[in-house]
Amino acid sequence: MEAGDTAGKRQPSLGKAACILTGASRGFGRSLALLLAPRLEAGSVLILVARSQGALAELEAELQCSFPGLKVNSVPADLSTEDGLQLVRRVVQDKLPGVADLEWLLIINNAGSVGDISKSFVDFTSPAEVNSYLAFNVTSALCLTSSILNAFPEHPGLCKTVVNISSLCALKPFKSWTLYCIGKASRDIMFQVLALEKPDVRVVNYAPGPLDTEMQQLARTKSGDPEVRQQFLNMKYSEQLLDCNVSAQKLVNLLLEDTFSSGAHIDFYEI
Ligand SMILES: NC(=O)c1ccc[n+]([C@@H]2O[C@H](COP(=O)([O-])OP(=O)(O)OC[C@H]3O[C@@H](n4cnc5c(N)ncnc54)[C@H](OP(=O)(O)O)[C@@H]3O)[C@@H](O)[C@H]2O)c1
Repeated sequence: MEAGDTAGKRQPSLGKAACILTGASRGFGRSLALLLAPRLEAGSVLILVARSQGALAELEAELQCSFPGLKVNSVPADLSTEDGLQLVRRVVQDKLPGVADLEWLLIINNAGSVGDISKSFVDFTSPAEVNSYLAFNVTSALCLTSSILNAFPEHPGLCKTVVNISSLCALKPFKSWTLYCIGKASRDIMFQVLALEKPDVRVVNYAPGPLDTEMQQLARTKSGDPEVRQQFLNMKYSEQLLDCNVSAQKLVNLLLEDTFSSGAHIDFYEI
């Protein structure tokens, strides 16, 4: 049974792909890695990025065992630093351009953080704090995506898709969520520019809905604004949070169908 087959039955495939997924150690990214792997043909390469070496190694072992035809590389790197970014670039340059008959290049910018959500707008007086947040949540996504696209010259048989994991916060303000809203709105518009400049690259801003992850736990315990904190608590206790697998599966289906308009912001609840 080849990678891409489940119980002997072939699933729709993304072909021979090189896929770079950030924030793969837990939460949505981990679910996405596990759901993407069966859709990649033998010989595909999957590069998993996050800081937690142990969690990445565990995921790499699990994927390698279930899909021996895949080449899985985990890269423990802190994307908020220049060194971390350089490390990922080096791995991409070493591992990917050599993939023979590559059909699909898939870059998924999933890693993200909420910043200090205990503060309100007027508490942000330190440029260093704001710049550090943006370095990880905006700059690294821009520079990593650009470096990877540059590493792959255009050729007719190669599809390129860039995914930005977005949020409702890209479109709507939430009290206490200044940094996160800035980051998500910036990323959405940034990837819309990419879609305009590069018609050969398919770009999607996917808002995965409220997910039952560590990020949500921070939202309901650390949000400075009491109403916002209560809204997050209500979502948890009225069971409105989504299982990461359910949302990740929607994204995989979106990629397989490939009918979205490039640059679109697509929300879990819209599809
Ligand atoms: N949870 C939600 O309700 C929700 C809603 C809408 C959108 N989103 C978006 O969905 C994405 C995934 O969210 P999630 O809930 O799965 O978050 P999460 O559980 O907090 O996971 C975040 C991921 O990013 C990685 N990461 C954090 N800082 C990093 C750094 N400096 N360098 C490299 N990797 C780093 C983390 O790994 P390490 O700690 O190992 O580095 C982890 O794998 C995010 O972009 C988030 O904004 C989430």
